[in-house]
Amino acid sequence: MDTILDIKDIHKSFAVNFGRKGRAFGNEYKNVINGLSIGLERGRVTALVGGNGEGKTTLFNIISGLHRPEGGSILFNNGRNTIDCTITSPWKIASSGVGRMFQGTRVFGGLSVIDHLLLQARPVAAETPFNNVIFPLKIRKSDRELKQHIYENLKEFDEFRELWKEGKKAASSLSFARQRMLSLAGLLLGTYDLLLLDEPSSGLSPESFNTLYNFLDVMTARGKTVLLIEHNMEFIKKAVDHCHYMAEGRILFSGSPEEVLSHDKVKQSYLL
Ligand SMILES: Nc1ncnc2c1ncn2[C@@H]1O[C@H](COP(=O)(O)OP(=O)(O)OP(=O)(O)O)[C@@H](O)[C@H]1O
Ligand SMILES: [Mg+2]
Repeated sequence: MDTILDIKDIHKSFAVNFGRKGRAFGNEYKNVINGLSIGLERGRVTALVGGNGEGKTTLFNIISGLHRPEGGSILFNNGRNTIDCTITSPWKIASSGVGRMFQGTRVFGGLSVIDHLLLQARPVAAETPFNNVIFPLKIRKSDRELKQHIYENLKEFDEFRELWKEGKKAASSLSFARQRMLSLAGLLLGTYDLLLLDEPSSGLSPESFNTLYNFLDVMTARGKTVLLIEHNMEFIKKAVDHCHYMAEGRILFSGSPEEVLSHDKVKQSYLL
């Protein structure tokens, strides 16, 4: 198997009660991830499913370098070099080729849609990627070629073309679904090898669903790898190649979507 992400024996707990001065009392920790391992095959769309609060987003946060685990390793190989995400800074992980769409909406609301896309299209080249946010005027003056790159990438998607037309609006003025589309469109513009999508189908209109299916087709045709967290079983059956079921902080079942969704435990947690 050609593994792009090798997650081995990850452990993560959070302090649940805080004592005085923000210090946790002894024993007041909740184990969220308990020895989780996954080998992610390059070029596939893989789903991570599991009930609410089982630690799926926490795992994404660890892969992105936003949370540090207490144990384990996550080797990401982009075909050029290998990094261990558990000891690498978030900007370095992103610039090595891990892109992410967050759960809910996560846009820079004060930026215009165009400035937002310009920001997402720029390589994360240094430890100061937010200079692009701090100096938006500079972006507007200097990035004709980048705008062309954005238009070329977005034009084959009806809904992304609509976004382009709304370019002067503030990102925060877009509807929930459109803000999610803005995040998704941004992932087409970066140089990512692995995409982490946290519940990409939630809150979407039927039109946006089609955009999402197209997006996944285009990404896999480009040889990208996708790991997505999902609760929508119809979507998983249609769009996903391989599936892992997470509970008790580990992967309990792996296989095709049909195999995994047929387990009684999975049926219970999704009321299938
Ligand atoms: N920063 C944090 N501090 C303390 N507890 C946290 C933190 N982040 C997550 N948790 C806890 O860890 C557990 C797992 O949360 P997580 O968001 O990873 O679940 P999830 O599987 O993504 O759930 P959902 O399907 O509802 O999005 C929850 O009990 C949550 O309250
Ligand atoms: Mg979550």
